[in-house]
Amino acid sequence: MIHAIKGMNDLLDDDALIYEKIIKTCEEVAKTYGYSYIEVPHLEVTPLFKRSVGESSDIVGKEMYEFLDKSGDSVCLRPEGTAGVVRAFIEHKMDKAGVVKRWFYHGSMFRYEKPQRGRYREFHQFGLECFNIANVYEDASVIMILAKIFKKLDINYTLKINSLGSPECLQNYRKALREYIANIENSSGFKFCADCAKRIQTNVIRVLDCKNDECAKHLINAPKLSEFLDDESRADFIKLQEILKDNEISFVIDERLVRGLDYYSKTAFEFESSEIGAKAAIAGGGRYDYLVEYLGGAKSYGVGFAMGVERVMDILRSKNIEQKLQNTYFCILDEELLPIAYKLVDNLRENGKTINLNYEAKKLAKHLNIANKQNYKYFIAIGSDEASKNEVFFKDLESGEQKSIKYDELKEIL
Ligand code: HAM
Repeated sequence: MIHAIKGMNDLLDDDALIYEKIIKTCEEVAKTYGYSYIEVPHLEVTPLFKRSVGESSDIVGKEMYEFLDKSGDSVCLRPEGTAGVVRAFIEHKMDKAGVVKRWFYHGSMFRYEKPQRGRYREFHQFGLECFNIANVYEDASVIMILAKIFKKLDINYTLKINSLGSPECLQNYRKALREYIANIENSSGFKFCADCAKRIQTNVIRVLDCKNDECAKHLINAPKLSEFLDDESRADFIKLQEILKDNEISFVIDERLVRGLDYYSKTAFEFESSEIGAKAAIAGGGRYDYLVEYLGGAKSYGVGFAMGVERVMDILRSKNIEQKLQNTYFCILDEELLPIAYKLVDNLRENGKTINLNYEAKKLAKHLNIANKQNYKYFIAIGSDEASKNEVFFKDLESGEQKSIKYDELKEIL
């Protein structure tokens, strides 16, 4: 038997309903903030991700589905959504026009990670990106959108925020952190783990993210990023906190929150949940005011987030959300009634009704059994007696009410 690839899953039945519910909720909230739908390809040239997400990140360093296509070009299944949307923004010359754009997207992302609960190789994100607004109120808005989505879905979370400052602040901070680490290693003889040793060379701030207890212990007295912020970044970060407080969004400041992608400046945030075992990020994002330029566009501001749909699905699944009833089961008791039933059902579908017609003639009790098992709301059957009077047998499977109904009354009842 051929199986799905490890870390890649089918989405069906109840899971598909939960997925639809999440995406619908996200879309509804995002639209109220002026965001509209964008779709970009799943496959892009590899340099797009190397340059945006960053060569030092785990995503680019270890997790990309990267291969040569039949013309020998290096291409890559998107590991995240921001880079492709930024590419589209530049390619459609919106950077030059200086327009404000707000887009949302959802779909598969691919990362070659070690599959485990909440961590897959193909997973789905709902994300959004706003271009050309420098005002920190938009940072607050993207956070508020997520807070509203989670409220509607009844999901508890912890919101962590931080500011990474400008590239200059980060550069100064990296230098100080590298000096601190060298000092620790020289004076105490302690050696940071192999992953950290790599991070120290490529992007030292990622050591703050290290899950190794010994490394974390030796970083307790490390210099703080907040001490390196320029005036504008500091003022924006204070303003962001004021706006969130004003709008009753609880948060904690996490000075260690540096995010796993290299393009952020100023605001960085993550929503964490403990409802899926160990604390896991269910969404993350921030500001990226230099990315458009870095990918060859004109100076444009950017801010956005992405939510991990499978992680949110996991939480909702454990809450046992109510099973949606299917609409109508339509069936025949005699084979020769199929053409009549087929036409009747088609007319009802013209009126927007959702109906499943069973083409097989069976006894009433057998049909009722199937409809009940498959969780239908309404049951309709035609036998010869009913057909002779232009009627059907109708049963509301929720209330148990049953009666005969004329063909032309059906559309009012369903
Ligand atoms: P990210 O933090 O890499 O950010 O991913 C966002 C969310 O995707 C995570 O918080 C997590 O819920 C989910 N996620 C990540 N990897 C996996 C996985 N292997 N399996 C299941 N879920 C996963 C980004 O992708 C940025 N593009 C967000 C952004 C948009 N920043 C600005 N705009």
